[in-house]
Amino acid sequence: MKISEFGEDIMKDSFSYSLNRDLYDSKYRKENDVNDPGKFAGISVDKGSVVVSFENASLKVKEYEGNIYEFTWFEGPAMPLESLQESEGFHMEADRAVSSRISISFADRDIIVTGSDGKEIERGHVEVSGGYIKHITSLNGWDRLFGSGERAFSLNLRGQVCRLWNHDANGSYGPDSDPLYLNIPVILQEGNGKFVMRFYANAGDGYIDAGYSSEDHMMVSFRSLPMKYYIIIGNLNDIYPSLSRITGRPYMPPEWALGFQQSRYSYMNDEEVRRVIDGFRKNGIPLSALYLDIDYMDGYRDFTFNSKAFPDMKSLAAYASEYGTHIITIIEPGVKFDPGYRIYEEALKNRFFIKYPDGNTLYAPVWAGMSAFPDFSRPDVSSWWGLQYDYMLESGISGFWHDMNEPAIFTGWGDNTMAESAVQADGRHGDIHNLFGYYMARAAFDHLSQGSRPFILSRSGWAGISRYAWIWTGDTETSWKELKQNLITILNLSMSGISYTGCDVGGFTGSPTGDLFIRWLQMGVFLPLFRVHSSKNTGRREPWELGKYSGVAAETIRLRYRLLPYIYTETYKSHMTGIPIVRPAFWADPSDSKLLDIDDEMMFGNSILVAPVMGKGMNSRDVVFPPGKWYDFYDDHLFSGKCEISAGLEKIPFFMAEGSIIPVDEDGKIAINIYYSDHGMKGEFYSDNSGSDYLLEEFSISADGDMRWGREGTYESRYREYRFRLHGIALSSVNINGQEVPVNENSFSAGEKFESAKLVFQK
Ligand code: GLC
Repeated sequence: MKISEFGEDIMKDSFSYSLNRDLYDSKYRKENDVNDPGKFAGISVDKGSVVVSFENASLKVKEYEGNIYEFTWFEGPAMPLESLQESEGFHMEADRAVSSRISISFADRDIIVTGSDGKEIERGHVEVSGGYIKHITSLNGWDRLFGSGERAFSLNLRGQVCRLWNHDANGSYGPDSDPLYLNIPVILQEGNGKFVMRFYANAGDGYIDAGYSSEDHMMVSFRSLPMKYYIIIGNLNDIYPSLSRITGRPYMPPEWALGFQQSRYSYMNDEEVRRVIDGFRKNGIPLSALYLDIDYMDGYRDFTFNSKAFPDMKSLAAYASEYGTHIITIIEPGVKFDPGYRIYEEALKNRFFIKYPDGNTLYAPVWAGMSAFPDFSRPDVSSWWGLQYDYMLESGISGFWHDMNEPAIFTGWGDNTMAESAVQADGRHGDIHNLFGYYMARAAFDHLSQGSRPFILSRSGWAGISRYAWIWTGDTETSWKELKQNLITILNLSMSGISYTGCDVGGFTGSPTGDLFIRWLQMGVFLPLFRVHSSKNTGRREPWELGKYSGVAAETIRLRYRLLPYIYTETYKSHMTGIPIVRPAFWADPSDSKLLDIDDEMMFGNSILVAPVMGKGMNSRDVVFPPGKWYDFYDDHLFSGKCEISAGLEKIPFFMAEGSIIPVDEDGKIAINIYYSDHGMKGEFYSDNSGSDYLLEEFSISADGDMRWGREGTYESRYREYRFRLHGIALSSVNINGQEVPVNENSFSAGEKFESAKLVFQK
């Protein structure tokens, strides 16, 4: 966004805000008054916790269930984290504190954490210097580092410096831009196929120096307290559930949120929205959600509608809903300064806005002009804010899109966010800056989740944001390079424990060529959030507006709906375990070193490997397969090792793991696809009534054809007849409850559910 788009007032306002910010921030500058821990004084155990004493500090280490270790050097503002279950704890053995899983000792200046196998897990110390509190740990030459939230760097972050400061990219960004909107102080270290995760419970300004300043050290530093971090050890399938024990598990979203979503800045009025929905209907392309960007509002005031452009939102939403389309509106954290505007008046009267230290309300310009910002860290403000969504719900709106919540501010110069010295209930804004968008999502979620499962899309956030909201990668450029970057950024978000991720399909700022758009759309099929969005003055992206590419676009969107039963099942699993839906290829086998550097493939859930085509004019690509055999989705061809895969524009290279059982929708009927393996096969299918009534069906088949169909829950699935389709082996006969059933094209049907069956294969 260029300031000139706003005319003179915004210009004046941004200058006056920037001046205020600088004046307040320098008058109320906060120097770090933390002392360096100093000399080591001793190590002991107190009620199961380790206490390491230093001249000026006392480190406390607690052991929790799930292989979680909490290291508290200095306390600070409380972070929104779950309470953990303490486990047995430590006792002293000579000069070491020992638990059943690790031991802690001190040597030179370092705390040494050793595993029960005698191998060192971490060696590091905390020091205070140059205004930062730093945790410095050793790195081996071969260690890789992943995570850190939204990062436009390479997948392995080794050698980079990642700033932890949520920040608006100012309308457009590409590879290497840093920091971005959503930073997460989570870093996963891999060495020789073994993992250690560190999560820093700090939402202030900081850096992860991933071996940049010193090749053999990682340094994570913060300007403010706390210096408290968690170390989690184990394999990937243990580490992520443990991380979610601390930060909260991803919530269970409504199924429609997993369908296709169409957005644009902006669909301007009632007539245009109806035209777009009609277009989807006429072309027989499903549409689960349509977004209204800022122009739907009355002068960019939150919780209002422009009554000329949208005279009857309720009837428009009802019209959309007839086609199964949900209307989602953007909501901004800035409340327009406008005496007479109810929301502003109420918040002002109740003193809900964030203030400067001298008690003056902080005003700063955003889209609406001068605005004030509710303090979402306060429970009373959050409850009041949550109530405002009711008017939107009554108007037929069914989802919400939180933008500009870093918070972004239009400034004349300097940092484009809120003054650090601003005062929030939880402390100084600068110390909890990275929680602003998170708290806004929590405020909306807490209210909206009382009735049903909400959908909130948020640009900013912090660790554990998936417990309240979905996120997307913001205003990315439109280019092949950026398509590839988006995949990497999303993989690092996953490695930071985030489940519900996506990007603007086609990029935000430009008009993609037909083939770039199709390739981006194809990648979108395999991201939790599947949303097309673009800036003003970009070419139309509705599928029928794409000339000769329209047919492929429509097919691509339909493919997403075919895969929905699988995607919903994987979403449920992520909700139950905290394991992200999208994962790097190495998740399948971290001991396979050639997988660890693969940044252009992804696992989509447990069973699907996707290798998106991300280059201009490319009609084939190399795919490195994790161990085992992989079935080509289109023709069941079996692949393993490394292969060149042909991929004309209508084809997305994606593969089903042998041994998996994958539910797919076939024209409204359910097909349970069984990918044969001589190690046996298994898989699940989850469905529910959008509430607590659910059905989890578990299928397993031995290599000899003994089939079991287990069920948990009471939901009556909308699918009456189940079709079971075998891939990779011919089926001679099927016997259910002593009765032979017909086999047709390698598949058989069941009108009624059975417990067990005998499948006879032609070997
Ligand atoms: C920001 C958002 C973008 C949105 C625009 C207008 O740039 O990131 O998605 O379209 O604001 O609201």
